[in-house]
Amino acid sequence: MKFIVSKSSSSASLDAVAFFIAKAHLKDELSAIAKLTGNSLEGLKSDFHAKEGEVSVIYNNETSLKSPRVFLLGLGEKVTLDALRASSQSFARRLRELKLAKVALDFSKAQQFASDSSESVSYLAQAITEGFIFGAYDYTLKTDNVDALKGKKSTAPKFDFKDVTLLCDDASMQQAKEGVSVGEIIGSSQSMVRDLINAPSNYLSATDLANAAKSSGKKYGYTVTVFDKKKIHALKMGGLIGVNQGSTEPPTFSILEYKPKNAKKTIAIVGKGVTFDTGGISIKPADNMGDMKSDMSGAADVIGAVEVAARLKLPVHVVGIIPATDNKPSGSAQNPGDVLTTYAGITVEVDNTDAEGRLILADALTYAKEQFQPDTIIDLATLTGACVIALGYQAAGMFTNNDALAERLSKAGFRSGEKVWRMPLWEEYDKQIKSDIADVKNTGGRGAGAVTAAKFLEKFIGDHPSWAHLDIAGPSFPSMGSSGSRGSSGFGVRLLAEALRQWN
Ligand code: BES
Ligand code: MN
Ligand code: ZN
Repeated sequence: MKFIVSKSSSSASLDAVAFFIAKAHLKDELSAIAKLTGNSLEGLKSDFHAKEGEVSVIYNNETSLKSPRVFLLGLGEKVTLDALRASSQSFARRLRELKLAKVALDFSKAQQFASDSSESVSYLAQAITEGFIFGAYDYTLKTDNVDALKGKKSTAPKFDFKDVTLLCDDASMQQAKEGVSVGEIIGSSQSMVRDLINAPSNYLSATDLANAAKSSGKKYGYTVTVFDKKKIHALKMGGLIGVNQGSTEPPTFSILEYKPKNAKKTIAIVGKGVTFDTGGISIKPADNMGDMKSDMSGAADVIGAVEVAARLKLPVHVVGIIPATDNKPSGSAQNPGDVLTTYAGITVEVDNTDAEGRLILADALTYAKEQFQPDTIIDLATLTGACVIALGYQAAGMFTNNDALAERLSKAGFRSGEKVWRMPLWEEYDKQIKSDIADVKNTGGRGAGAVTAAKFLEKFIGDHPSWAHLDIAGPSFPSMGSSGSRGSSGFGVRLLAEALRQWN
């Protein structure tokens, strides 16, 4: 898929062209479109109301437009980033269903959109591009798709767009081009991340995840170091070893590093890489257990974020840390009640083997803190069902010891459309994770499950002044996503990209 920003489409003919329309400009827009397409204004008015998410298709007989189909995309009351992203996304999805490959989006009102939304033309163009790529995304292992992932069937669907033109005035051209190229980078890295998450566990082991990081590093020029099982044992990463103990697949511990010369700050991003979570001996119920292939969403986000930083050449030192394993019951698996010694030396009573994410993150957080002395540590994890109960699929839970960081991530969330909502880390919750026989216990009882998980992680942060934990269990794999199907949203890539771009 290739994006072009131009005054007019270079193709002799298009399959479809789309117009974004907000209620605030409905009358003017419909008059212009009626004229342009030779349709009656009355008809358009009665059929299209610019409601948010509304998509109408009208037909056109005028040759000046080069397209037989015109899509009207409703933005709601006024132009917003969220509305542009969402409508661009549903446009792309409809085009994919209809197999329409040569398309254009009208962005000639860029200046008006910018003043309506108080956003720059370039950021608006970025949002449209991200939305389009998101909607165009498809994951399938059906046999009508060829080629190989791991020597098996491909995830690359046969249909692809020829080119996507953003129609734009001279006044907005330069900015629109900048925005589109940033959007293409963020969007395509997000699609890569979604592929990793959607890949079933028999397509993606801890080793495959490490290899995915390696190949991204190779492609975009950053370094990736992978510790194998032997090294992980030598380093005494007791949390990762404990979770991996029941598995036949070896664990991996990957370190991704993008370090430009002009960097002032070091940001460490840590992601939970559980390639499949059965729960272990504290086994999960069968219903929807298959969704637990997505329990490495945080890890995939880490690859996406470091990749975006490298592709955009951001002036910040970004370190990605991925502890990876599956969580399986077997004769060799750890038992509830077992006590682990983590990499930090802190002992943990494994009260429930299904609270495995925090065990592997404990080692990774310590490693990030000690080896890189980062200015800020952010971890992303599909950590608790409790967070899904609290916030649903609409936002990630944010736990942080730093108000400025909270503000930064919250802003990045609203702007990128991947929202976070702050939750408490009060001392009162500490007693829930006290253990009789170890320094800490990996569960905290029924109440405040997302909070006690975060309190557990906090033990491994120590006195580091700038840490945020994002519990992405809900938004990363919405059980009924906006695309109407189960699957990865790639939540976290746009959020981190936006946060890192603002980090100066
Ligand atoms: N991976 C799960 C959390 C999860 C649940 C993610 C639903 C996405 C959707 C995590 O490892 C887990 O099992 N957490 C337990 C913790 C409990 C045993 C303390 C949970 O949330 O039930
Ligand atoms: Mn679990
Ligand atoms: Zn898990």
